[in-house]
Amino acid sequence: MTLLRGDALSAAFDHGSTAYDRLVAASPGYHAHLRRSARRLGLADGGRGLRVLDVGCGTGASTAALLTAAPHARITGVDASAGMLDRARAKSWPKTVDFLHAPVEELADRFAPASFDAVFAGYLFRNLTDPDAALGVVRELLAPGGRLGVHEYTLGGSPVHRLVWNAVCRAVVLPAGRLTNDARLYRHLRRSVVDFDTAPAFAERLGRAGFWRVRVLPLPGWQTGITHTFVARGAGGRGGRA
Ligand SMILES: C[S@@+](CC[C@H](N)C(=O)[O-])C[C@H]1O[C@@H](n2cnc3c(N)ncnc32)[C@H](O)[C@@H]1O
Repeated sequence: MTLLRGDALSAAFDHGSTAYDRLVAASPGYHAHLRRSARRLGLADGGRGLRVLDVGCGTGASTAALLTAAPHARITGVDASAGMLDRARAKSWPKTVDFLHAPVEELADRFAPASFDAVFAGYLFRNLTDPDAALGVVRELLAPGGRLGVHEYTLGGSPVHRLVWNAVCRAVVLPAGRLTNDARLYRHLRRSVVDFDTAPAFAERLGRAGFWRVRVLPLPGWQTGITHTFVARGAGGRGGRA
């Protein structure tokens, strides 16, 4: 099976948006892990005065996690799928949260350089055709010394982690996808994780993209060795290190 990319992926998420919130609610620790990753951004004073971008915000699960970690920040959620965004917009948000329908690849045309103090991406990067290009966009959007948080399925590198991931997919993810008529999206999910960077490889990718102080942090429960938080600092705008 080929991976879904671009418009085909957005169409799959448009369709999958109907069942998305129910499926992730049934995934042990999904929301708690997102909140943990959002807290790991370490935004001071509840994010007061800070601008935060949630790229690939989907139905708003990661946006809600950011709001918990930084209730005083201005948060913009961006997503390429109109269906996922409709679900996000339909929820109740404070005035400090807004949403934009756009792919990450086009954000340099939508925002000035250094527009954000922090960028968060929950389960986005392994979906992208060119993750390095997207990291370049994110780096430009970050203010000097701004913070990047990435929460992603990235296998730890041991064959056991791959075995566990494939077992979870066979037992839970793929059957759930068939039940909700989203079989292609959930086959994509399984394959995109297997094909994407391991956690150390993604950390190296961040370093090559110009991020610094890159840290890889584990998540607990069944996601041990399967999902990680990456936190890093951007050099900011077009300039050097802050
Ligand atoms: C697995 S969902 C994660 C949603 C949310 N961040 C969460 O944690 O629940 C991945 C999201 O990334 C979005 N996405 C995929 N490719 C994208 C792109 N190129 N630009 C912006 N969003 C994209 C999808 O539409 C989808 O909503």
